[in-house]
Amino acid sequence: MNKIFEPVHLKNLVIRNRFVRSATYDRLADVNGQVSDAQIKYNSVLAEGGVGLIIFGITCVHHNGQVSRFQNSLAGDEYIAGFKKITNAVHERGAKIAVQLFHGGKEAKNVKNMNLLPLAPSVIENDPYYTGEYRAMTESDIWEVIQAFGDGARRAKEAGFDAVQIHGAHGYLLSQFLSPYTNRRQDQWGGSLGNRLRLHSEIYKGIRKKVGSDYPILIKIGVQDGFRGGLEFNEGKQAAELLANVGFDALEISQGLRGKCIEETEFKANINSLDKEAYFRDLCREIKGQINIPIIMVGGLRTLALMKEIVQNQEADFVALSRPLICEPHLIKDWKINEHKKAKCISCNACHDAVSHGKPIYCFLTTRPLLQNGG
Ligand SMILES: Cc1cc2nc3c(=O)[nH]c(=O)nc-3n(C[C@H](O)[C@H](O)[C@H](O)COP(=O)(O)O)c2cc1C
Repeated sequence: MNKIFEPVHLKNLVIRNRFVRSATYDRLADVNGQVSDAQIKYNSVLAEGGVGLIIFGITCVHHNGQVSRFQNSLAGDEYIAGFKKITNAVHERGAKIAVQLFHGGKEAKNVKNMNLLPLAPSVIENDPYYTGEYRAMTESDIWEVIQAFGDGARRAKEAGFDAVQIHGAHGYLLSQFLSPYTNRRQDQWGGSLGNRLRLHSEIYKGIRKKVGSDYPILIKIGVQDGFRGGLEFNEGKQAAELLANVGFDALEISQGLRGKCIEETEFKANINSLDKEAYFRDLCREIKGQINIPIIMVGGLRTLALMKEIVQNQEADFVALSRPLICEPHLIKDWKINEHKKAKCISCNACHDAVSHGKPIYCFLTTRPLLQNGG
């Protein structure tokens, strides 16, 4: 048995194996951002399927960071009870669960329904990558968001989550602050790399005060943007090191701002051969070589033998999957029985198209809505 299937510590948390379900927005919350019965069932199925740690997808901490009306929220105490049902169901099935705390920045399209403008570090004129209307954040906007992350984490802990993960990737608010392309500020929140990471660092400190010293605080970090002229890896790598020094307990390595095509996103399509798998492996390996906190590798992981090699070579401490577990929520259990089983996911991205067009999560291969798979 490879150590990929053995229990592992993340701070004080014991996780039954090294498989993580990477955060995956399911668009199954109700219209008020409350947990739905479908989400309790979905997370139960995932936990039964053998994954060690589920990271529950984008959950907003402030209404001004919300991307969709059907997005879960921890922006108020009224959301705690619903999440307790999910965390209980997952724990009863032997898995652990973290929640991804989120602010969309200028991508927070839903705020227009509230007659507000989305927020961003700076307004970029004639931006070929973004056409919507938004405004630059004031100092007090920034502190309000920091406070909201702290409150969200406090509620997450009360709801029974074993950890929180801050979303610092994929072009959302924290990515926008880190990237020199979207952050043109000349105050303490912009300019040098340290200043562009001040928001991340203040969010960490604010959360730590609320959750105590033992609670794991993770971050998913976009270490390079999907286009030239954005964040480059040499800075992204330093950013990872700085975040480890700030105190984060694990880093999941992903992409920052998206470019204009599917090859410039974090969910690359058509992963149909071994050489296309693990597309952030080189980035992870370099980061892992220079920092001492656990690294979670994500991105096109499909073949068990490759993941075992990655863990055995200490290129990452955990391996995370999103799309393969949408297709086959029982994949980890299946692999434990048959190591040669091939993951069915063809990375067609129909699942992503569904949620980004306002439909509940769906797998093209099953040709049925996910929850009718029977696991
Ligand atoms: C339907 C869908 C929803 C996603 N939702 C999130 C999310 O809520 N938060 C996040 O950080 N990444 C999200 N992602 C990205 C995944 O977590 C992951 O980084 C990416 O899909 C690459 O991993 P994979 O090849 O195993 O799918 C999503 C991806 C898909 C396909």
